Amino acid sequence: MAKEITVSGVRPTGKQHLGNYFGAVVNFVKMQEMYDSYFFVADYHSLTTHPNPADLHSNVKQIVIEYLASGVDPNKCALYLQSDVPQIPELYLIFNMFAYLGELERSATFKEKVRSQPDNVNAGLLTYPVLMGVDIIIHKAHKVPVGKDQQQHLEMTRDFVKRFNNLYKVEYFPEPQAFNFDDTLVSIPSLDGEGKMSKSKGEQTCLYLADEPEVLRKKIMRATTADTPTEPNSPKPTAVQNLFDLMKLVSTPETIKTFDDSFNNCTIRYGDLKKQLAEDMVNYLAPIREKIKELNSNDKLLSEILGDGGAKARASAAQTLKDAREIIGIKSF
Ligand code: ADP
Ligand code: TRP
Repeated sequence: MAKEITVSGVRPTGKQHLGNYFGAVVNFVKMQEMYDSYFFVADYHSLTTHPNPADLHSNVKQIVIEYLASGVDPNKCALYLQSDVPQIPELYLIFNMFAYLGELERSATFKEKVRSQPDNVNAGLLTYPVLMGVDIIIHKAHKVPVGKDQQQHLEMTRDFVKRFNNLYKVEYFPEPQAFNFDDTLVSIPSLDGEGKMSKSKGEQTCLYLADEPEVLRKKIMRATTADTPTEPNSPKPTAVQNLFDLMKLVSTPETIKTFDDSFNNCTIRYGDLKKQLAEDMVNYLAPIREKIKELNSNDKLLSEILGDGGAKARASAAQTLKDAREIIGIKSF
C-alpha cells in the first residue's frame, strides 16, 4: 500500500531554539521514516512582513542547515523551498476562488496581524491561510504536523478542499488532518521561569542549537530559580520545575534522581543543578552544532540538496495541478 503523505512548512525566521527542535524538527525526523514526507521553507509566506533580502536569504539558509544538522534526511524526504515550486502559486490562484472574505478576516492570525502591524495589512496576510492550504494539498497530503496555533489554518484548508470536491463532484483532494506523536504536545520551558521558550521573549531566554558552549553555559547559569525548599518533599516552584524539565531532555535518569532527591531533602544547590544542566546541554547539542558549522560552509551541498528536493516537490505538484486544471475544465484542445 502506498504510504500516506505528510507536508510541513516552517517560516524562515532564523536560528532554531530548543523549543523548535523538540516541538517540531524531532517530529519531522520521525515522520520521514513513516510517511512520504515533504518538508519545506515557507519563504513566500514570510514576505507578508517585508523582510530585507539579505536577512531573508540568510534565514532560509539557517533553517535548512539546522534541519539537516538535526537529522532531517534529504534521502528520506523532499526538503525544498516553497519558491522553487511554481505550481504552488498557480494552485493558490485557483484556491483563492474557494476562500471567502469573511472567513479570512475572522482568522485569528489575521486579526493578530491587523493589531500588530496596522500599517501593513496587505492582501497576502489575508490570504495567508489559502497559500498554506495549497502548500498542503499540492501534494494531496493526509497528515500535517502542526502546533495549536496552526490548527485553525488546517481547518480552513479542509473547508477549501470540501468546497472544491463538492463543486466539481470529485473526491480528489484528501482532507488533511493534524498530526501529533503524543496526545500531549511538548512544551519546552523558557529560561526566565515562566511560559514556553520563544524567540519573542528575547535571546537570553532561548537556547539556540547554534549557540557556542560558553553561550549555553552563561544563559543556563542565569536562568531563574527560586528559594531553596525548607519543607521536605514540597512541590517544585515553576522556575525550578522548568529546569528539571530541561534536564529530562538531555540528562541521564541518575543525574535527575540525584537532584530530585536533594530537592526533596532540602539540600539542593541550584548553582550545581544549573552547572550540570549546562554541561549536559552542551554535550547534547555538540554534534548538532558541529554539523551546523560544517554545512554553513558548504553551499554546494545545500544547493544540491535543495535542487533534488525541489525537483521531487515539483514532480508531485505538477501532477496535482494538471489534475486540478482538468477537473476545473481548463484543458488543451
Ligand atoms: P517562537 O515562539 O520562538 O516564535 P515559532 O512560532 O517560530 O517559535 O515556532 C515554530 C514551531 O516550533 C512551532 O509551531 C512549534 O511546533 C515549535 N515550538 C516553538 N516553541 C516551542 C516550545 N517552547 N515548545 C515546544 N514547541 C515549540
Ligand atoms: N503557517 C505555518 C507557521 O507559521 C508555516 C506553514 C506554511 C505551514 N505552510 C505550511 C505549516 C504548510 C504546515 C503546512 O508555522
